[in-house]
Amino acid sequence: PALLLPAAAGLVLTPATRTHSSAAAPHARPTIRAVLDVDVSQQRVPVPAAFFEKSDGLLNGKAAYDEMYQRSVDDPSAFWGEVASQFHWEEPWSEVMSYNFAPSKGEVFTSWFKGGKTNVCFNALDRHVAAGHGDQVAFIHEPNEEGETVKSYTYAEVLDEVQRLANVLKEKGVRKGDRVSIFMPMVPQLPIAMLACARIGAVHSVVFGGFSAEALSGRLIDAQSTVVLTADGVMRGVKPINLYDIVQAATKICGEACMEVEALVVLKRLPDSDKTPTLVEGRDVWWSEAIASADPKCDVEWMDAEDPLFVLYTSGSTGKPKGVLHSTGGYMVYAATTSKYVFDLQDGDTFFCTADCGWITGHSYVTYGPMLNRATQVIFEGVPSYPDNGRLWRIVDEHQVTQIYTAPTAIRALMRSGEGPVKASSRKSLKLLGSVGEPINPEAWRWYFEVVGDSRCPIADTWWQTETGGIMIAPLPLEGWAQKPGSASLPFFGVQPVLITPEGKEIEGPGEGLLAIKAPWPSTIRGVVGDYDRYVTTYFPIEGEEYGYYLTGDGCRRDEDGYHWITGRVDDVINTSGHRIGTAEVESAVVLHPDVAEAAVVGFPHPIKGEGIYIYVTLNEGVEQSDELLQALRMQCRGEIGAFASPDVIHWAPALPKTRSGKIMRRILRKIASKDTDADSLGDTSTLADPSVVDTLIATSPLA
Ligand code: WTA
Repeated sequence: PALLLPAAAGLVLTPATRTHSSAAAPHARPTIRAVLDVDVSQQRVPVPAAFFEKSDGLLNGKAAYDEMYQRSVDDPSAFWGEVASQFHWEEPWSEVMSYNFAPSKGEVFTSWFKGGKTNVCFNALDRHVAAGHGDQVAFIHEPNEEGETVKSYTYAEVLDEVQRLANVLKEKGVRKGDRVSIFMPMVPQLPIAMLACARIGAVHSVVFGGFSAEALSGRLIDAQSTVVLTADGVMRGVKPINLYDIVQAATKICGEACMEVEALVVLKRLPDSDKTPTLVEGRDVWWSEAIASADPKCDVEWMDAEDPLFVLYTSGSTGKPKGVLHSTGGYMVYAATTSKYVFDLQDGDTFFCTADCGWITGHSYVTYGPMLNRATQVIFEGVPSYPDNGRLWRIVDEHQVTQIYTAPTAIRALMRSGEGPVKASSRKSLKLLGSVGEPINPEAWRWYFEVVGDSRCPIADTWWQTETGGIMIAPLPLEGWAQKPGSASLPFFGVQPVLITPEGKEIEGPGEGLLAIKAPWPSTIRGVVGDYDRYVTTYFPIEGEEYGYYLTGDGCRRDEDGYHWITGRVDDVINTSGHRIGTAEVESAVVLHPDVAEAAVVGFPHPIKGEGIYIYVTLNEGVEQSDELLQALRMQCRGEIGAFASPDVIHWAPALPKTRSGKIMRRILRKIASKDTDADSLGDTSTLADPSVVDTLIATSPLA
């Protein structure tokens, strides 16, 4: 078997019987599990009986899943063909699935529902309105300021605004296949913007509103989008974010790099003030004015199942972010089906995903999956901590939320203020609690289950990625499906997870290894914008005897029951507060500062964020370390990437540990950052050009 992946080399496998303590796996990367795990023993928590008082369950127990899962992997074409036929197809497909994951056997590709024509927006809106559900509430807008009066949207109203906006885009010259960037706050108009693009076959590229002008411009240029949907700004908690100013700065950077942004459609979200932007004449229009005068009817563009639906940028281990491509038919079918089964989404439910549409979770579990299932949803513009840590639970009560889907980092942050803010609410409407973005440590799992859910609601710990498009491993809330706190448990229909050794050998039975997926599922990543080579070398570097694998970049342990325990990234990607950041990106940001000679960035276990950002900085000769410089480097990261990339620790490093060939030994830097520095942990340092560097770093640690 061929293995082309250098990143995998850092992983040391531990026998299956070991628990996740750093002592058990001396060279493995320290993760949140290592610090927070109190107990990863085989505790089994059944789906509470109270859940079945609220739901009939979509399947008849775990045995029904077992049977369906088997069918889905034995004959994926028959299985997914049947599922897909529940959607509207303007023209039928001629072939359900074909693929090649093995670069040596030719071009890597995945194709689902080839020849079929459909439109995701039509399936998410027109289909429901035509069936008489136009008056059902689609989006409940929960504003940043508690109690502010804002408009909620029915399905008919969403369809109306989507059609008008789609016509505005057409007037701006957007055609099928063009890429449109979206830089907006988390308000109903954000999913509306995405659906408007989908309606006319434009490929959307949503950029999270927390990114800087620099980061945004890179994504505009890479996607070649000349039309941008944005807003004047938004309040997130007490913080104003002036989105228009950021876009404006980004367009300047684009202009200098020879790409003119031709049109902005600007939503007004902030009250009139002297900060209200003056729009660029001839280029920009206010959203409300544009849609008011737009034609209210816009025919859908029938799309090929394999036409791209969207691009979403995500960090990798090296260099600039990659534009992950998803296509139309398979993504639609998979986002909808996972939404339905994982969250037990049924008529009358009110679904509340706290993720922003700037991330994949907001794509699949706000804009697409729930809408395709005709759910009512809460769209939350604010943050869980504003005005206080009881906000989420008051939202649950006020809108009678049935499922909440959030991230472990939010749960851990809320845990800090104890049970009080939770218990001040009733939460009786809740039937299921979801978690996503990083491993949930059993302590947080317990708190979520017992305190938030009053031990009545099952927990869906969902493992997946931007690249997988939808949930891959998660427990279903079914009779007989035991939950294990901290484990995402078993694969969704059609998903075949395998563990492989760094040499590319499959591990049978219990064990630990690199998590890979054999054979495609409908929303498999279809490519990386403009970079086929990167797509192949990142995701398909491993070939077995007969076929290749999709490589996830995560480590995973499988226990005796076949349950999966994700151990975290094995590459140079940091998962901080559920956000993926490449260490290389942060390093490039820091070294731009004229006083910096060299920088190395690693993740370290952080009690709230999961992983924090730790930067080793070597200054130019003669430059003194200072608080001003510290602040300047923080600003450098914010400016180049965004506030969420601000470092947690900056370590003034006289020198970095390097091999004789000049390669930085990150393994050692990770150990020092996590204060795991006894000789045993550090391992062999004799290959370093100057082993004394290690002692100096330990002595100068700001955490000491
Ligand atoms: C991590 C977010 C453990 C993992 C949907 C993955 C998780 C990366 C879980 C993808 C989970 C996500 N348990 N780890 N339930 N969910 N991850 O692309 O490391 O933003 O590779 O997609 O988050 O992050 P992304």
